[in-house]
Amino acid sequence: MSSTGRYAASAQQFSSTRTKNNPMVHVDGNNQTSVDACTNAARSSDWPVLPWARGPLSAAVISALQRPPGTFGPTPPISGIDALSDDDFSLALYLCYEVHYRAVTDAGWEWDPGLLTFRAELERAFVERLRDEVVDPRSRFPYEVVSALDELIRAAPGPSLSRYLLESGTLDQLREFCMHRSAYQLKEADPHTFGIPRLTGEAKAAMVEIQFEEYGSGVAAAMHSHLFGETMNALGLDPSYGSYVEVLPAATLATVNLVSMFALHRRWRGALVGHLAVFEMTSVEPMARYSRALARFGIGPEGRRFYDVHVTADERHAVIARDRMVAGLIRAEPELSADLLFGAAAVLMLEQRFASHLLDAWANNRSSLVSRDQRAR
Ligand SMILES: [Fe+2]
Ligand SMILES: [Fe+2]
Repeated sequence: MSSTGRYAASAQQFSSTRTKNNPMVHVDGNNQTSVDACTNAARSSDWPVLPWARGPLSAAVISALQRPPGTFGPTPPISGIDALSDDDFSLALYLCYEVHYRAVTDAGWEWDPGLLTFRAELERAFVERLRDEVVDPRSRFPYEVVSALDELIRAAPGPSLSRYLLESGTLDQLREFCMHRSAYQLKEADPHTFGIPRLTGEAKAAMVEIQFEEYGSGVAAAMHSHLFGETMNALGLDPSYGSYVEVLPAATLATVNLVSMFALHRRWRGALVGHLAVFEMTSVEPMARYSRALARFGIGPEGRRFYDVHVTADERHAVIARDRMVAGLIRAEPELSADLLFGAAAVLMLEQRFASHLLDAWANNRSSLVSRDQRAR
């Protein structure tokens, strides 16, 4: 149980590594694979283990990933679901993207036509819902792009997770928060790096300058993804890649799916730049608060370093992102203005939904993670 006695959120309870030697889930009876074969497939990857399916969409992907590429087979229809809040949908899309980062099982799945076709169907539904939620920023802020971006960030509504965690969060809530963020921060910078070959001139140079520091300026132990692992260690969490995916809700997975979608499509390069700009321009104050929240619970400098480096680095990154990356892209490709602002507005909207999900759960004395019952659906 948590120290508050309200809910449990311990690394031991939620890490999927604890199921390392258990049988994998199989949903589609025609394509069942033996437990031994599944376990071996999972062991050949960087992932600790594939998550449990949450419904037919994620089951189709999880089942396929345990077979050889080229065997994707028929897929269930994507209808009647909310692509921003459905756990099954979000996990399915998340796993489709993961094959581009780390080999979940067989690396041949990365360019498997069946998986890519299914991913495209999921993406169509995802984009449709994003378009529903994001009011065209050009109509709200009809200024030139950099000013519109400033205004979009300034006007972003909603509660502050970092302020809550600093002022009244519990240690268990702080640990839960880091479990959620591990989905992105253990691969921090990797999605945006896909954008580098798709940019030119000033925008490309600015993105590379930011990314170089995200990767520790050439020092592996200073890579931001590594520093986040140190924070997880300091909190007694499992820093293994993919450890907590099985307990992450749609509200979290959607935030990572957004950047993966922008990253993996050249046509979304403007949105990817808008996304990175928001990250860099909204980081300094929350990062300082998270560091102070960790200090409240006696977490030392090593465990806080991830947040502390962002306070200094992102002060500069914000300027590089705004004045050179965004401005440079719009000078080179002004037709990408609307996409850039769409990417910025979409990340702000999904981050708001993420914060609300966590704060609502905590206000009701619940865990914000996916429960065992939901996973076993
Ligand atoms: Fe970073
Ligand atoms: Fe940064």
